[in-house]
Amino acid sequence: HAEWIQTDLVRNSRLRYSQQWTLIADSNNHKNIRTVLPPGPCSPLSGELLSELSPTRGLRAVVRETGSQQLLEIWDRHGLRKSLNLSALNIHGRVYDDIRLPVLVRKHTLISSLLYGDVFVSTQDRSVYCEDWGEALTSKSVPVLCVVDLHHGEIDVLQSVPQDVSPGQALWAPCSQAVFFVGWYHEPFRLGLKFCSNRRSALFRLSLDGHCECISGDNLSVSCPRLSPDGSTLIYLQGSVFGPHNQCLSLDLKSGKTSTMLDVVSRPQTGDFAGVYEALPSHCWSADGEKVVFSSAVRNWKDVFMVDRGTKKVSSLSDNLSDLSKVYGSWKLLTVQRDLMVVCCSSPNSPPTLRVGFLPSADETVTWRTLQQPVTTFDYLWTVLDVTPTSDEDNLRYPGLDFGAILVKPSHLLCETGTPVVVFIHGLDLSLAFRRHSASLPLCLHPVNYRGSTGFGQDSILSLIGQVGSQDVKDVQRAVMAALQNDKTLDPKRLAVIGGSHGGFLSCHLIGQYPDFYRACAARNPVINAATLLGTSDIVDWRYTSAGFQFSYDNIPTAETLAAMLLKSPITHAAQIKAPVLLMLGGKDRRVSPHQGLELYKVLKSRGSPVRLLWFPEDGHSLSRVDTQVDCFLNTVLWLTQHL
Ligand SMILES: *[C@@H]1O[C@H](CO)[C@@H](O)[C@H](O)[C@H]1NC(C)=O
Ligand SMILES: *[C@@H]1O[C@H](CO)[C@@H](O)[C@H](O)[C@H]1NC(C)=O
Repeated sequence: HAEWIQTDLVRNSRLRYSQQWTLIADSNNHKNIRTVLPPGPCSPLSGELLSELSPTRGLRAVVRETGSQQLLEIWDRHGLRKSLNLSALNIHGRVYDDIRLPVLVRKHTLISSLLYGDVFVSTQDRSVYCEDWGEALTSKSVPVLCVVDLHHGEIDVLQSVPQDVSPGQALWAPCSQAVFFVGWYHEPFRLGLKFCSNRRSALFRLSLDGHCECISGDNLSVSCPRLSPDGSTLIYLQGSVFGPHNQCLSLDLKSGKTSTMLDVVSRPQTGDFAGVYEALPSHCWSADGEKVVFSSAVRNWKDVFMVDRGTKKVSSLSDNLSDLSKVYGSWKLLTVQRDLMVVCCSSPNSPPTLRVGFLPSADETVTWRTLQQPVTTFDYLWTVLDVTPTSDEDNLRYPGLDFGAILVKPSHLLCETGTPVVVFIHGLDLSLAFRRHSASLPLCLHPVNYRGSTGFGQDSILSLIGQVGSQDVKDVQRAVMAALQNDKTLDPKRLAVIGGSHGGFLSCHLIGQYPDFYRACAARNPVINAATLLGTSDIVDWRYTSAGFQFSYDNIPTAETLAAMLLKSPITHAAQIKAPVLLMLGGKDRRVSPHQGLELYKVLKSRGSPVRLLWFPEDGHSLSRVDTQVDCFLNTVLWLTQHL
């Protein structure tokens, strides 16, 4: 059962639909898929916020939204068995899934929900400020965990969650008499949670009789607890508090005592596993409880890995090297159940494609089956560049690091000369997945994974601390020079640079520091002046860290810290900018305030430098509303076409 999200431009919304697949295994070898039957029709899912199958008894729990109401439905093989009107019961606030709060059914149903401010704040105190969890989690402040007793239709808010944490990512402990959950600490104040794997948090075990204990270490960041099939072992991801918000994490194992199954990788060897950089899928254990499967970035790729609990040996499960005719750059594990893995693969040529395969034993390789070939593929040639900084651009604390870049080029342009190049710079949450954005444009796209990107080891990530605005800018420039040198069909006179967030920061730096090099720039929610951003960002810790200072909650800005932040900012090069700049800003961005982009807009406009500003009042940092995405895409294409 696969669920998809598709953009519908007519309705201006994202539609969800599901599709059923039937796989038939060999009768004498259950780990061999004999046939894949044609898929069932695509059926729209309407209003399903969350859904989950029970491990036993064939039940399905759905949290459904109808208008502003929320319902909890339990379906069985005979239809709808129970429906609770959560809005009418009014025991908790709206159910949400932003920090991946799962629904599970066993004897009870466990749902996670939010208590709105009005539950706590009496009318006299209605103006008292209520903190929330920042960008994309506005007004989400104190979530609660609830258990629904399906027999009596009663909902209980679990009261023994410690007062100083927000609970989430809950799952049933064996026998259903307790739950495990992650708690994020509130004090002394909340920092933004979205895209941040470095928030102080702990793992808790709460028994339904009211006892709650912390079962992980102090002063750590934990996430993604997953229980082994026999219930004896819990794994979870662990990282440090503060520092870069997307770091290499360790995979820890708790079975009685705690041990590390996979440690942070500081410097991966060429061709080796490079560490864990992303969340675990909700199912990631092999049936025998001996192996764990997950996906993660490794250099310019994303791959699926298996780690053996006994030997701690990690192996790649993709067939990238054995099948060069069909190389997917990005592999994502969606689930593994009874050793059948479901992955989603994509590349600059192929939209997301489902593939299945059984976990291999010993040194076998996986036989992957593609469930359905995509309707369209694109004719791109893409090559990976490995780039080594020159000795004067080497990092003194982390010497000898290299980085990567990808050149994506429409095949029909192969022999033409003078192809324009668009340098695409990612923010600090990279994904090298299929980008429909690039499809069918007569230009090359050149994404750069500068030092500090995930997939190159923790040293690379740490090397960026204190070096933003110089090391990363030089890395991008070095990669562009390398591409121009390697491929003479590229036109060095027609270069543009685009990016969002930190990628927008780098784009604006590049046109300021190399004003005669780039002909156009398009930036989404860029950081322009790190000194003025300090007071408004929901991740103030990264504002200090990126500039090379220690963060502590009680930091007070000094002339020294503010000066350093200013000097690392593109605004200091703004007078040199010649390239026409397209700015796209979200009015509700709490990570990088839209006033950042406005600062650059005013500087450019007052100097008569071409600038166009698109303002999206209802959008946050990701500019992800459907109409906004379309607007940004079309305007970027027009801007590049006009100026290249
Ligand atoms: C749920 O309860 C609310 C509040 O009582 C009510 O307005 C709404 O019509 C109910 N929804 C359904 C589907 O019964
Ligand atoms: C917590 O860890 C961070 C870095 O991971 C460190 O800077 C800080 O001093 C630690 N705090 C305590 C109370 O141990």
